This record gives sequence, structure tokens and C-alpha cells, in this order.
Amino acid sequence: MKEQFPILRREINGNKLVYLDNAATTQKPQTVIDAIVDFYTNHNANIHRGVHTLAEESTKMWLDTHRLVASFINARSYEEIVFVRNSTEALNLVVNTFGRQKMNKGDVVAITEMEHHSNIVSWQLLVKDKGIKIEWIPVDKNGELELDYLEFLAKKYDEKLKIVSVVHQSNVLDAKIDFKEIKKITDKVGAVTLLDVAQSIPHSRIDVRELDCDFLVFSGHKIYGPTGSGVLYGKKSLLEALNPFMGGGEMIKNVSKNKSELNDLPWKFEAGTPNLAGGIGLGAALSWFDENIDRVDYEETLADLMSCALSGLKKLPGVSIIGPTNIKERNSLIAFEIDGIHPHDVASLLDERGIAIRAGYHCAQPLHDVLGIGPTCRVSFACYNTVEEVEYFIDSLEQVIDTFR
Ligand SMILES: Cc1ncc(COP(=O)(O)O)c(C=O)c1O
Repeated sequence: MKEQFPILRREINGNKLVYLDNAATTQKPQTVIDAIVDFYTNHNANIHRGVHTLAEESTKMWLDTHRLVASFINARSYEEIVFVRNSTEALNLVVNTFGRQKMNKGDVVAITEMEHHSNIVSWQLLVKDKGIKIEWIPVDKNGELELDYLEFLAKKYDEKLKIVSVVHQSNVLDAKIDFKEIKKITDKVGAVTLLDVAQSIPHSRIDVRELDCDFLVFSGHKIYGPTGSGVLYGKKSLLEALNPFMGGGEMIKNVSKNKSELNDLPWKFEAGTPNLAGGIGLGAALSWFDENIDRVDYEETLADLMSCALSGLKKLPGVSIIGPTNIKERNSLIAFEIDGIHPHDVASLLDERGIAIRAGYHCAQPLHDVLGIGPTCRVSFACYNTVEEVEYFIDSLEQVIDTFR
């Protein structure tokens, strides 16, 4: 697997690179890099409008990639797949369409305390502009949501609870939410649901029909695709009922001085020339994923990596693991603190040994406030990581801790 990722051949500070920062972004297999080079080398042309061969080729590639993404998440049609730059843009698209067009003063969005900033700040902007209200679903230190509180919100606000916008897997606690239980509550009041699968989609099958979420967002770069590629899934009936918030080329059929006729789904939400190579690279990443990753084997590999990391970390002095300590409730990443050592120092000293980890608030500051903790270190795994790498990380961390004691 590793040999398919050219960057993993790199040495960092004289050591073989051990890349454990996959929750921030994954590395790209050669196939994805080749697909981007191939697009620019052989097919580059703007889409939709052209009648020449290259324009027809790129337009077909763009459409085919939407179809491929639809099939990857089991959407009913490519019309439900809007290409954006990342999860953040997808969330902002929902806020600026659904939020602005379907929500009024006093209406409520419920989010959890473990959201990434992208699912917080975007709604906060709407609070100012439209007088909507944000309600927070409390979370405990294991990532368990207080769904009784959501039940309470549903009763309190009834149909004023317009949308429940939640993260599928926390990028700090690692825990996954019980979306089925959330759906049972939202269905009672007719609230729309948005699921942020940025962290879960690289590790588990996502089926939008089974989940029955109304919107879903993810970033291509976290699932072996290029940066600048991301997806908003929306149920067709919902997307049809919304107006785009960005106007321009590509998203219209006709324009006169007085009015414009909008393009069909999903193009009406893709204003301007899109990141064609990025989107096509994402398609290559998802095809690569299907061809190279056996989901059952991968689940086992991930469980081995996680259990090796968890047991190693638990043995080190002064280390506190954030989130559930039971392996059964863990997925793909571990955030931790070390008593008396700043996470940036830890990350810098590990970098000297060729190990890349993340340190900071991981764009989830409200969660850190709720948990009463400062910045943390985070290791996160992908298909190319090995147990030997995790052992090397644990040994190196032990040396880092020794240096400070
Ligand atoms: C759960 C979650 N949601 C959203 C995002 C935002 O992703 P992007 O920066 O690609 O928009 C991240 C990024 O780390 C994330 O972990």
C-alpha cells in the first residue's frame, strides 16, 4: 500500500517519514496524482459551453465524476451531488441557501458541542444577519451526546427547530454519533438534517439512503483526493427548492437584462469555472479507494493501529487520552495531553524523528472549553500506516517525555 504513495518515501530530518496527521489531510496515491496530470496534459478545457473535442471530453469527465461520487455514497442521482472546495464550503452553501431562504427570526439550528468550527462559525454569521438561534446539544467526555436535550429542543421549538447539523465522527474525541436516534427526533418535528462526514468517510461506508440525512458534506483531501475538492450531497427535492447563493457563469441557462434562467441540478449550485482537475482527482481517489481498500481488512488494520496506540499511550507517564478509552468506541484518531508539556513542543520533537502529528485545538475550540482542556496532540491513521510506525511513535514519545522530566 505504502509504495503507492510517493510522498511516503520522503525522509524528514534524516528519518523515514511517519505520517500520523491524516485527520488533517491524507496523502495521495500515484493514481490520483496521475489523474490530475492526465487532465492537464490531455483533456483541459472549460466545461458545459464548448463544442470542441476537449470541451466535450472535460464536460463528460465532470459529469462522470459526479456520477461516481453519487454511487460512492449511494445517492439516487448525480443531480444530488454538488462539487465544492471542501466541507467548509459545503456547510456554508447550506447556511447561505437553506439558512437564508428557509429560516426566519427565532428559528433554530441545533449543533453539537463537538463540531468543527466550520459547522459553528457559518451559523454564527447567520445569527447576526437573520436573528436565528443556535442551540448546542451537550456532549460528555466520551463523545456521548445528550439526546434527551435534543428531544427537549424538539418539544420546546417544534417546527421552529428547522435544522440539526451534526458531525458524524468528532475530530478530537473520535467518537461517532448515533444518527439514527437523531433522525427519530428530527422526524417528529420535520427538521432537516445535515451530517458532516469529513472524518468518517475515509474509514467507513457512507450510504446516504440508509442514513436518510437531508444534507451531507465531506472533503476530498481527507479521503486521498486533492485539496480544493469537496462534496455537498442534498436530497433532490430539497436542492430543487433552494436558490443558489452565488450567481455567474455555468449555473444559468439564459441571461437577459431583467432575469436569468437557472441551470439544472446540480450545476445551478456550481457557479463559475470549477476546480476541474481537483474534482476529477477526487473521482480518481474514490475509484482507487474502491479498488485498493478491502473494507473488512481495513477495519481490522485500523483497529490494530488504534489498539497499539491506545495501549502504548496509556502506559506513558502523564499522558491523558481525550475521548473514550475503550477501543470498541474508538475509530481512527487519538487526541491526548501530556502533563506539563506543551503540544507544540511534543510535535516539534517528534518531527525531529520524522513523525508528523498535529498539535492545537483542531478547529474545535468550544469542545476544548466544554472539556476544560487546553490544546492537545493528535495522531490519526490512514490505510498506509503500520503497527511498526505506531510502535516507533510510542517509543519516540516516551523519549520526548523523558527529555522533559
Ligand atoms: C469534522 C470536520 N468537519 C469539517 C472539517 C473541515 O474540513 P475542510 O477544512 O476540508 O473544509 C474538518 C477538518 O478537519 C473536520 O474534521
